[in-house]
Amino acid sequence: MNKPYHYQGLIERYRDRLPVADSTRIISLCEGDTALIRLSNIEKIIGHGIELYAKFEGQNPTGSFKDRGMTMAVTQAVSEGSEAIICASTGNTSASAAAYAARAGIRAFVLIPEGKIALGKLAQAMIEGACVIQIKGNFDDGMRIVKEVASAAPVTIVNSINPYRLQGQKTAAFEIIDALGRAPDVHGIPVGNAGNISAYWVGFSEYAAVTPATAACAYCDDVCHYEKAAVVDTRPRMFGYQAAGAAPFVLGKMVDDPETVATAIRIGRPQSWDLAWAAINESGGAIASLTDEEILQTQRLLAEKEGVFCEPASAISIGGVLRDIENGNIPEGSLITCTLTGHGLKDPDTAIQQSRGGVIEVPAELDAVKRAIVDNL
Ligand code: F0G
Repeated sequence: MNKPYHYQGLIERYRDRLPVADSTRIISLCEGDTALIRLSNIEKIIGHGIELYAKFEGQNPTGSFKDRGMTMAVTQAVSEGSEAIICASTGNTSASAAAYAARAGIRAFVLIPEGKIALGKLAQAMIEGACVIQIKGNFDDGMRIVKEVASAAPVTIVNSINPYRLQGQKTAAFEIIDALGRAPDVHGIPVGNAGNISAYWVGFSEYAAVTPATAACAYCDDVCHYEKAAVVDTRPRMFGYQAAGAAPFVLGKMVDDPETVATAIRIGRPQSWDLAWAAINESGGAIASLTDEEILQTQRLLAEKEGVFCEPASAISIGGVLRDIENGNIPEGSLITCTLTGHGLKDPDTAIQQSRGGVIEVPAELDAVKRAIVDNL
């Protein structure tokens, strides 16, 4: 038998780089450790000597990258004695908050926009026992209200304005470098509320810097403070992508009525405005927008050419870098990683609507099935 190895989640894996005390009760669903999938079929299509990888965050326990931040935010909330958490959400944060609250045995309140949340995400929050509050407004309205509620009631906000969220999410950048043995040249990522692009930049920057760390001392009973050497000596250029109808970073100003098929990033007033601009500017990156049609085309491309099924908002990172390779913004021979932020199963309606395959109906007879197979070879 191989040596047993039971992965225990990203806090255990990266404990020396996270603000968690040894005695803290960890609230985890074994999140993180997601696949970095080489997109070799798409590489052949685009050429230019590009090496392209997808960090498939749909493999997290609730099917999105939010779990990385939520394990940290809920662990911290519980350690501070909090008995309830709250968030505004386009869907994935609410599913993740609900799951980690259930795990911790505390209450989750989630505010979602009316009618604009993918079915899978709603199902998750409901079955996991969250109190789901649907507002007649969008994510930005929800965010404003959540901040007001949390300032007056004993409830912890677990949106990405909670700094523990970004701490957890930065570990995806660590995993990418740990897998490749180097930093990518370019990292492509969807941008909505802008927490994730900020978190990746923290992660990539920490691995490229000498950082203070603590560990149990081998010589005394105390905690030892020391410096961790840089793991790599480069950082990627950060390329952020937004949906054209919800692109405040591209327009340089907040958007009042954001609209896009990629409901996860239907956000007009991103909370991490300054942090995201710092990531883009310090890294020599860029921000651009894609139309809904381009987003859906890329979702199909990933599914049909690579068997990777992500939600529309996620596909924007690949769609964006493919366009930036074509127009020369990303040089030939680059090693590119992209975050696929959430699983395609989150939004089955959109997938079915735009899938080209269709369903063939036949009688339950051998001949009819044979004919269908021959006709479609
Ligand atoms: N991709 C997906 C699938 C998301 O759910 C989100 C955000 C993003 C990208 C954008 O990430 O906000 O850090 O820039 N979803 C949030 C939610 C807003 O409520 O689930 P960001």
